Amino acid sequence: MKEITGHTKVFFIIADPIHHVQTPQMLNRVFAKHQFDGVVVPLHIPKQSLADAMKFFKGLKNFGGCVVTVPHKMDVLQYCERLTKEASMMGAANVFRKHEDGSLEAHMLDGEGFIRGLKGHNHSVKNKSVYLAGAGGAANALAFALLNEGVAKLTIGNRTQQKAEDLRDKLLMVNSSFDIHIGTGNVSGHDVVVNATSLGLKDGDALPLDVDTLDTSQLVCEIIMQPKETALLKAALQKGCQIHYGTPMLEGQVELMAEFFGASKDE
Ligand code: ATR
Repeated sequence: MKEITGHTKVFFIIADPIHHVQTPQMLNRVFAKHQFDGVVVPLHIPKQSLADAMKFFKGLKNFGGCVVTVPHKMDVLQYCERLTKEASMMGAANVFRKHEDGSLEAHMLDGEGFIRGLKGHNHSVKNKSVYLAGAGGAANALAFALLNEGVAKLTIGNRTQQKAEDLRDKLLMVNSSFDIHIGTGNVSGHDVVVNATSLGLKDGDALPLDVDTLDTSQLVCEIIMQPKETALLKAALQKGCQIHYGTPMLEGQVELMAEFFGASKDE
């Protein structure tokens, strides 16, 4: 990493909980590779403190932007003056940057990161039937990306069913011929199962879906990076499923994050 000086641009990753984050380590390495004078620091921000934090960021002169994760991906949009096409369509963001004029611009890279991560491990979702657990910020991004990637059928299951229905309706407004169903946790009949909830981050969390309905033909994917092997992935391994860890989604987008923050690819 470059030495931190008074010229260094400061970036944060905002999350609650924070202990699991791997983005600072990975993004600081990419900044260093590009000789970019920036540093990424973790900030533990509970949901109720987000409004104060966003006001604080806007007043900081050497602030470059943030990586955004659980539980702020949807809430952060209301504080950003500019949204990219992706952030606006998905109603969620996992990065925002500060412009010269002080405005904040939000963008969503999770969808592209997840698909790149799958491809990097030689998995394809094209023409497959996918069960997606979750309807929050990350799930919104993944749902759009999966359908754009040619998934044949998508089932969305979420604790708050209304949010799953809202996501389905939003996706159908983009393309009314998408085949989208609302799930109840039973994943049988699906080729690929994805956990995009935050369940699994904490010890003792409930499972995000009914693991008794998993079978050996399925690929089970996480987006949680820490712990690496969540209770869902452990259950999937016991059932003889193929598994896909959470880290590739971040690996698939860390260069895109650096580019969004101004550390040019070609430097
Ligand atoms: P992110 O921005 O990372 O996607 P989020 O928008 O807060 O985080 O979404 C969290 C997801 O995990 C949601 O699908 C949420 O379900 P609800 O929409 O019902 O809140 C899910 N989730 C979080 N805690 C949960 C719990 N204890 N049981 C079931 N689902 C949970």
